[in-house]
Formats: sequence, C-alpha cells, structure tokens
Amino acid sequence: MSTSEIQALASAKVDKVRATLAQAITGAQDVCLTCSFQAEDVLLTKLAIEFDPQIPILFLDTGYHFAETYSYRDKIAADWGLNLINLLPEKTVAEQELEHGLLYRSAPDQCCKLRKVEPLFKAVAEYNVWLTGLRREQARSRAALEESAMFTLPGGKQVRKLAPLAEWTTRDVWYACEQLSIPLLSLYERGYSSIGCEPCTTIPLDPNDPRSGRWAGQKVECGIHIEAAPAN
Ligand code: ADX
Ligand code: SF4
Repeated sequence: MSTSEIQALASAKVDKVRATLAQAITGAQDVCLTCSFQAEDVLLTKLAIEFDPQIPILFLDTGYHFAETYSYRDKIAADWGLNLINLLPEKTVAEQELEHGLLYRSAPDQCCKLRKVEPLFKAVAEYNVWLTGLRREQARSRAALEESAMFTLPGGKQVRKLAPLAEWTTRDVWYACEQLSIPLLSLYERGYSSIGCEPCTTIPLDPNDPRSGRWAGQKVECGIHIEAAPAN
C-alpha cells in the first residue's frame, strides 16, 4: 500500500470517530469520557473536546499511578483546558495500607474494587453516555467489544457505553496521535505498552501481548469494564 493510501485510510478512521463523537456529544449534557491518559484515551479526549471543550474527563486517581502519569495528566489538562474530574477512592493510600496492608499484592481484586470500580461506577451513574478508549485488539477479553452497547451499573441504572476506537489497531492510534501532534506519556518510550497503577504495571512479559505487563499476568481486567450481574 502506498503512503498516500495509508494516510487516506487513517484520516477516514479519524473522520468516522469524529462523526460518532459529534452525534454523541453535540448539544448533550449527559456524556462523560473516562481517561487513563494512555494514548488511545488522550486521542479520544483531543477529538471529543472539538465538540465540547468542557466534556467531563474522568480520571481514576487511585493514588498508585506513576509520577510520570500524574505530571503528564496535569500538563495535558492545563494545555488543553480540560474539565478534568479526579475520582478519589473513599480511603487514601495511607489509610488503606494501614488497615489492610498492600492489597495490590494480597488481594488485587479487592484493591481494584475499592480504588477503581466503586469510584468509577458511582461517577458514571451521573451520566447517560460513557465514552471509553477500549479497543478489541487490546486483549482476548475485549475481542467481542461493541462500539455501542448498553451497560448496567450496580444498582441497575443503564448507560450507553461507547468505544469509538473499537476497531483501531495500536498502529492506528500512534499514527493518529502523530498526525494530530499529540504528545504521549513518556513511559511508552521506556517500553511500557499498557499502563495502569505503578505496582501492577511492568514492561510486557510477552512481547506479543501488550497487556501482559498488567498485574504480572495474574488477572486481565480491573473490573471497570465488567457489567453488574442482572438482579434476580
Ligand atoms: S484497565 O481497565 O485495565 O485499566 P485499560 O488501561 O486498557 O483498562 O483502559 C481501558 C479503558 O478504561 C480506558 O479507555 C478508559 O476508558 C478506562 N480507564 C482505565 N484506567 C483509567 C483511569 N485511571 N481513569 C479513567 N479511566 C480509566
Ligand atoms: Fe490497586 Fe493495582 Fe488495582 Fe491499582 S491496579 S487499584 S494498585 S490492584
């Protein structure tokens, strides 16, 4: 494929995402975007603020992120004038560690529940549309991801969950970020390919699996993308 054909395909993909965002966001007050400040989320954020500069950008501030993630978040938020909402768990890291020790070692599911799942679901319940940077290619657990699906939160409220980048490859994301002059989190330069909390993120253990550096392969999802079981 020639360079101009690659460029045409890439800009068609960006246009399709813009069309999805225009339809979801324009004139709406009930849309949020969850942003981890990884490449796909920052790309989606950049495109979303074209339609609503004040769209709520929700960041799960677990207290366990890399220093680089916090400073990058602060820089992007300031440079782009984001309406950034930092979602805090009920307990600080110090309080949790005093009470339970290092839960990310002894019980990572419980730690994710307290620091990610509960704060995120509580916040998302304030909206009707939830935008994410999820992609099918990221993991086997995401292979059947739909671009638009209803998602049931604990308590029963349903929100429309959108994944406008569902069909995108990693290469698509990097190319679009380059085209749009989006600076990326510096940790990618050090070999990280999927980046979450520092104690649970390493360089990929399997070079063919970009998420194999998350939770040292012990688990694949933190729980924020797992729907509540229907009430009986
Ligand atoms: S995770 O669930 O294992 O952390 P991943 O890092 O691939 O997932 O991110 C997938 C999506 O989850 C992102 O596109 C974003 O919508 C949401 N997400 C993940 N981490 C955060 C975070 N710290 N703050 C806000 N949203 C997040
Ligand atoms: Fe805790 Fe690790 Fe989950 Fe972060 S990713 S909330 S540190 S278990």
